[in-house]
Formats: sequence, C-alpha cells, structure tokens
Amino acid sequence: MSDGGGVVGIIGGTGLTTLSGLEITGTRTRETPWGSPSSVLTDGHLDGQPVVFLSRHGNPHRIPPHQVNYRANIKALYDAGVRTVIGVNAVGGIHPDMGPACVVIPDQIIDYTWGRAGTFFEGDLEQVTHIDFTWPYDQEARNIIMQAAKVHGVPFAGFGVYGATQGPRLETAAEIRRMERDGCDLVGMTGMPEAALAAELGMRYVCLGLVVNWAAGKTEQIITMAEIEAAIDQGMSGVRRILEVSMAG
Ligand code: HPA
Repeated sequence: MSDGGGVVGIIGGTGLTTLSGLEITGTRTRETPWGSPSSVLTDGHLDGQPVVFLSRHGNPHRIPPHQVNYRANIKALYDAGVRTVIGVNAVGGIHPDMGPACVVIPDQIIDYTWGRAGTFFEGDLEQVTHIDFTWPYDQEARNIIMQAAKVHGVPFAGFGVYGATQGPRLETAAEIRRMERDGCDLVGMTGMPEAALAAELGMRYVCLGLVVNWAAGKTEQIITMAEIEAAIDQGMSGVRRILEVSMAG
C-alpha cells in the first residue's frame, strides 16, 4: 500500500502491541501540541515497505480505551509522515456472520462514545470547520486490505457498521440489542474518535477489525477474558498476514 510519498501507519490495538515481522529501523518519541502519544513510534519495513507502528494502549498494554490520547496518536503519526492509517481493533460481533476470530473490514461507524477529546478544531480558531465524514473509511485502502485477505485465504467480512462504545466495561445485553436495532454489526471501544481525527488531518483511514467475542447477550454465556484471549490467539495471525500482504500491494 503506497500513498504518494507518505508512509503507512499501523495503530495496533489489543492483541497487537508489537508487530512481529516488522524489520525495525528505529524508534522515536514524539511530543505533539496535544500531548504524548500512547507509545514510541517504531519505524521499520514490513515486506519491504516503510511503515510506522504505534501501540494504541501503550506497550505494555496499560491505557484504557477512554483514556487513549487519540489526538496525540494521530498527530504524532501525521508529523512522522504518515498519510494512510490502518487501525487494528479488537471488536465484539453482533452480526451473525461475525463470530470470534472473524476479520472484519467495516464500512460505517456509529459513535456512542462521550467526553473524549475528539477534534483538532477547537481553541483559538479563525474559522469553524466541519469535515465531511459520510464515508469514514477510505475505500481504496479497504479494497487493498480485502484483496490481501483473499490472497492469503483469510476469511473476512467486507462490510459492517462499527458501533463505538465508551468502555472500559463491556455492554449490557439491552445495549447490544439497541445497537443492533440502530444497525451496528460490530462493537468496539477505540474506533472513535480515531477515524474522525485522521479525517480532520486529511489522512486515509481504514479499520482492520478482529472479532474476539460475541457481543453481550448474543450467547447464553457471559464474556470472559479467557475467551477473548483465545480468539486473539486464533485470529491475530490472519491479521498479521493481511498487514504484510497489504504493504506489498
Ligand atoms: N464490546 C466492546 N468492545 C469490545 C468488545 C465488546 O464486546 N470486544 C472487544 N472489544
């Protein structure tokens, strides 16, 4: 995946704190006017292509979804020359085709988060800016990711509405039923405001989701960390393969 001079940035979420296969050429710490990003930026090559990797929850994993400094993360990547962002997200499955270990490349978002710093356009502004966000994910980048999944035989769902919740608790069964009525197919805690912030800076953004559990109330059982970890173990290798092939494309 190339984008006319800029490099590709990968934001790793739960289960992807480091990126094996990345030939690391260096790390850098970056400060931004919005504070510090969650982790150092790791520069390297994935399948020969330059990439910058950032761990959304820090390394080790310690920053909960509602306390991630999304603005600092996106701005730090932008300042490092990144113009295309692949956001890797662990999600819960609502749609019947989106069970544990399924890879999903969603095409829409509904934002249920609150109280997060979700825009660069505030403070001492010369004018008010409203970005278009009709299609929150970049279609070309989605196509490349889906093609990479096909090439590697990684089963995926190439559609879906990502419902972004506040966390860090998981949802109630009634909340998931409501989200389903709203049209959500998957649920996660970190997809927003990350996608909107990237759009504000004119970056291309795509979500590569890995379903790690059925959403609350979709099975008789409650959701356990053991189940989530098992799905990460099962599905993350497919995500890594997709990332490698996407770079080559
Ligand atoms: N809900 C919200 N976020 C999540 C879930 C979930 O069920 N699984 C992984 N991230």
